[in-house]
Amino acid sequence: MKVDGKPWRTIWLEPDGWSVGVIDQTQLPHRFVSTRLTTLDEAAWAIKSMVVRGAPLIGAAAAYGVCLALHADASDESLDRACAALAATRPTAINLRWALDQMARAVRNRPRGERVAAAYARAQEIADEDVAINAAIGRVGVELIEAAAARKNGARVNVLTHCNAGWLATVDIGTATASIYTAHDRGIPVHVYVDETRPRNQGAALTAWELQQHGVPCTVIADNAGGHLMQHGQVDLVIVGVDRATSQGDVCNKIGTYLKALAAHDTGVPFYVALPSPTIDFSTRDGVAEIPIEERGPEEVTHLTGMTADGRIETVRIVPEGAVAANYAFDVTPARLITGLLTERGLIAARADALAAAFPERIAKG
Ligand code: MRU
Repeated sequence: MKVDGKPWRTIWLEPDGWSVGVIDQTQLPHRFVSTRLTTLDEAAWAIKSMVVRGAPLIGAAAAYGVCLALHADASDESLDRACAALAATRPTAINLRWALDQMARAVRNRPRGERVAAAYARAQEIADEDVAINAAIGRVGVELIEAAAARKNGARVNVLTHCNAGWLATVDIGTATASIYTAHDRGIPVHVYVDETRPRNQGAALTAWELQQHGVPCTVIADNAGGHLMQHGQVDLVIVGVDRATSQGDVCNKIGTYLKALAAHDTGVPFYVALPSPTIDFSTRDGVAEIPIEERGPEEVTHLTGMTADGRIETVRIVPEGAVAANYAFDVTPARLITGLLTERGLIAARADALAAAFPERIAKG
């Protein structure tokens, strides 16, 4: 992706060859700043504080977190400590555990002298694989947008998305946004309804910002507006991301996704999930029963942060003093509400047999 005409990824190796640069997403959309991570603790802090966020990017950041730990100390104890500390940062997105597993496999049985180089090589591969997977998802999903444009005789296609499953949630391109960027780049007229995504406003702050950077027309809507738009034929398709999908195709994504799926089902609007394979957890089946849902601090619900007219960033309380708030960060959309899964291996049904047939090597490994 380009920011002000310059190409960026969300995570990179710094010129010193070992420290890690990331975009600080807590500052967007008001300031575009990067920060340098030099230790395991800093990597864990970046994930926990949501400096980096989004399931695929969390995975890549965890992989580089292992590199930073081994750069300081390449012992078995250091590897175990790093994996435990990083795994504890956020509970729901499965890419975190997938990436830690990949890193442990890549380094554990090597002599100490080879571990650091092996770790950095695998982390780089995880980052590059994410970009390739998202580009492939984009090539699959663009066909749906193209077909919708053809049905509408070339009138603009309206896609609704929730949260930020964009460039910023991944290493590059995004999952849900991959099809949108591909369509836009091919000259297909596409417009995006962006759910604001309370409480942290990843849609309003991040998705709207990155779509603007790429020149894709978009409209931010209140979270509760989607159903109304769907009833009035103003949404052609919904495309969302996912933080963990189960073996039977249930999808856990940012809180509020389930309500969009219900509205889409009721109104006959196709509901697609952009699903990179590292986000599939073949060890779970029933998403509602088995996926741990992150609960975050109540202040994300009780307060809002924004920029004042004179350019100051301020946080204000929006509830009565002392109000009790609960903050569930994710919900589960059952497979029956999903029209299809956009994967790097094609458009597949949200069903156990379809997922197993598309990713047989993952079944074999368990
Ligand atoms: O809590 P976040 O911001 O890390 O949540 C992740 C997300 O952005 C979404 O749930 C997204 O749709 C899936 S990640 C591609």
